[in-house]
Amino acid sequence: MLKKWLDEANYTVVFTGAGMSTESGLPDFRSSNQGLWRQKDPSEIASTDALNTNVNEFIEFYRERVLGVKEYLPHKGHYILAEWEKQSNIQSIITQNVDGFHQLAGSNRVAELHGTLQELHCQRCGKIYDSNEYVKKEYHCNCGGVLRPSIVLFGETLPEEAFQLALSEAQKADLFIVLGSSLSVTPANQFPLIAKESGAKLVIVNQEKTEMDLYADQVVNDRKIGELLQELNISI
Ligand code: APR
Repeated sequence: MLKKWLDEANYTVVFTGAGMSTESGLPDFRSSNQGLWRQKDPSEIASTDALNTNVNEFIEFYRERVLGVKEYLPHKGHYILAEWEKQSNIQSIITQNVDGFHQLAGSNRVAELHGTLQELHCQRCGKIYDSNEYVKKEYHCNCGGVLRPSIVLFGETLPEEAFQLALSEAQKADLFIVLGSSLSVTPANQFPLIAKESGAKLVIVNQEKTEMDLYADQVVNDRKIGELLQELNISI
């Protein structure tokens, strides 16, 4: 059905989570076998408390993730989505991912709900740096403040511009495709529901069950995202 709906839709929005980047080599968070939050408690490490009270472990954890997004690359699936945007098969991407891989693969209309690991900013003065500073083990701003990744930590609000773009895209969609998310984190997991309530067909492609499967018009959980996108790309 997904192929038919892709052909028929006037406004297709793709919503991606960490499962979109596992085939690039980056771990996701909640996969039963290798998710990051299977080894660490996110509230202890991915939070503003951790940044303030546990800064060395915070920096060590995020330096590892910065090295990951510098070492690994977008995979074929990211490039197919960028191609589909150029051919107007899809209109935009809403992503929870912070790897910047959609943009690296050529996608332009991307709402990064949770920010990006490609950038750091000073916790004290807000000055922006490239995340290569972490690669070079440079952890301080020239004002003396600590440099932190420009991502949304647990307990922080989402960037207003990305949120508003995602909201308007979800409301415009007549086809909303989730790729690789457990849909377990609010408010990001509300966008599939907003799209559904606005009249869109909802498709969830995810190897494990998600909290929103009951609202979906189609659930695909026996395929890897990369191979499914390649298969669809042949016939689109
Ligand atoms: N193909 C299909 N599904 C996949 C693949 C794949 N190749 N790889 C992983 N998955 C599925 C997993 O089964 C899992 O259910 O992707 C899902 C990823 O879910 P999570 O690990 O929970 O990631 P995500 O939904 O993006 O997490 C949301 O939580 O920690 C925060 O801010 C972080 O943005 C993240 C948010």
